[in-house]
Amino acid sequence: MKIFVTRRLPDSVMARARGMGADLHDSDTVLNDADRAALLRDYDAVVCTLGDRFSADMFAGDPRCRLIANFGVGYNHIDADAAYAAGITVTNTPGVLTDATADLAMALMLMALRRAGEGERMVRADAWPGWTPTQMLGQSVTGRTLGIVGMGRIGQAMARRAHHGFGMRILYYNRSAKDLDFPAQRLDTVEDLAAQADVVAIHAPGGADTRHLFGAAAIAAMKPTGVLINTSRGDVVDEGALIEALASGAIYAAGLDVYEAEPAVPARLRALDNAVLLPHLGSATLEVREAMGNMALDNVEAFVTGRQVPNPV
Ligand code: DGY
Repeated sequence: MKIFVTRRLPDSVMARARGMGADLHDSDTVLNDADRAALLRDYDAVVCTLGDRFSADMFAGDPRCRLIANFGVGYNHIDADAAYAAGITVTNTPGVLTDATADLAMALMLMALRRAGEGERMVRADAWPGWTPTQMLGQSVTGRTLGIVGMGRIGQAMARRAHHGFGMRILYYNRSAKDLDFPAQRLDTVEDLAAQADVVAIHAPGGADTRHLFGAAAIAAMKPTGVLINTSRGDVVDEGALIEALASGAIYAAGLDVYEAEPAVPARLRALDNAVLLPHLGSATLEVREAMGNMALDNVEAFVTGRQVPNPV
């Protein structure tokens, strides 16, 4: 069985992959489409990451590959239906990054409400005139209403933190009703949720089904004091409409970890003081990235030894 790993993963994961006899692209650069398509022809199993696009055309011609083990829970960069049709199983790494991603969403919410990014930039620029009673007044967090779009594992972890830690009331939008261990009200439309929430946190998966799910109408429905947090995928939100709303003051702030065309972040967005911007750090702790790597390799190991893969998508 020939195995390939497309990106540099944490050291311990690379060592394990080496021990499994995998070939490694031990680099932070992303392979180009042609090289990635060649992997499907030459290898039985490919471990890939965010940024490794596998489109339907790449699965043509009866490829040798039978497993794509994604390092990450989101797999919108892989056409999983086309892979399945070509006889390729796709796996992902759910669960292990839930808490880390919810933690980062909380950080963004706190930073956006309390203007922490703006304050940090002021201090770094040596532009702080000193404390004043009216300086950089943000919004209190405790007791506000949080609207969750996508009440999966990460959405629930975010809601629990907000409810138990900050006494926030929870609203949510989700395709199906959820049996939750905290009080929450489900709403029928993202626009209703946007109109009622003080903070909206996006936790829906990316992909064609959710592209611009939180679109111009939902953004227009938000309160002028409303804050939008996104740690899921950039294109779940209409980024252009969001920039307009932030720039015109139609909404208060945004905290973003993901963007529509990563790593490009529009200059207009970067210029806005009411946007807290992070570079897709949701799962970026060493423990979590090691756990993700090991989970991806567990799927490869199951596949090469003829067992059921634990995490098919
Ligand atoms: C994921 O797992 O989908 C993250 O976005 C990458 O860490």
